[in-house]
Amino acid sequence: MARMNGRQWLVVVGVPVLIGGLGFLLGEVDQRYVLPTLITLMGIFLAGLLVEARGLSIRLFGRTLVDNRATFSQVEALIGLFWVLKPTAPLPATRGWASSPDLLREIADHILREKPAHVVEASSGVSTVIIGLCLQQLGRGKVVSLEHEPTYAERTRNMVRQLGLDDFVSVVHAPLVEHRINGVVHRWYDHRRADLPARIELLVVDGPPESVQDQARYPAVPLLRDRFTAGSRVLMDDGSRAHESRIAERWKQENPTAQLEFLPLEAGAWSLRFV
Ligand SMILES: C[S@@+](CC[C@H](N)C(=O)[O-])C[C@H]1O[C@@H](n2cnc3c(N)ncnc32)[C@H](O)[C@@H]1O
Repeated sequence: MARMNGRQWLVVVGVPVLIGGLGFLLGEVDQRYVLPTLITLMGIFLAGLLVEARGLSIRLFGRTLVDNRATFSQVEALIGLFWVLKPTAPLPATRGWASSPDLLREIADHILREKPAHVVEASSGVSTVIIGLCLQQLGRGKVVSLEHEPTYAERTRNMVRQLGLDDFVSVVHAPLVEHRINGVVHRWYDHRRADLPARIELLVVDGPPESVQDQARYPAVPLLRDRFTAGSRVLMDDGSRAHESRIAERWKQENPTAQLEFLPLEAGAWSLRFV
């Protein structure tokens, strides 16, 4: 059972004690008023608790309904992905630190429809596996996934190996280093360690984590700008967050002809398409 917080203790213990104290003081003045006053006050208090509990259960019901709907649509997206991609080993967990199934479906839809040969990803994980499975199904293409944490790079490589995706996926350990963009120093992947394609058709941005610095994902577009051509698309996860929205605005300002679109997915996403 959930522990009560300070306010709840104050209400549940403090109010009856207060009423009891009032009854005691009243008893000193006139015994006849004690019982009716105490019964009335306790009645009001219990009625208040009941109203509060009812409001709480209604709010909880509403939240559960919203959560269930959200979870159901994520399960639907996941079923769709499994049905189409038919992985031969269990996939790693989605949501939380990893991308949500609805973004993974958006990525898969894009790859299966537009058949990009050159995909790059900033941060690795379940998204890398999904991209690899799509390319495997197409029978062509390659994704280079930049990962700053050696442990996660190795973890993703193991999944890639287990699923037989080595021909389509390359996970590169690229520590975060300083890059100067328009005179400002940013920490981003050391992408020079990777053999990045001259033309990037799809860039998936889900790192570095926001704890690295403000607008940590911003460098992705300015640093790789020369590799985007007409039709190239950038998909950035966590689009509902303030920093990512600001990053998307900056990308658009710096690339006025590109089409920027917000995708209303579980965590929100930004799509920037070069024309
Ligand atoms: C948002 S996660 C990337 C997730 C990846 N795109 C996916 O869909 O699985 C960004 C970075 O966090 C790190 N990371 C991944 N899982 C983590 C975890 N469970 N706890 C802490 N850091 C994690 C990795 O270094 C990863 O590159």
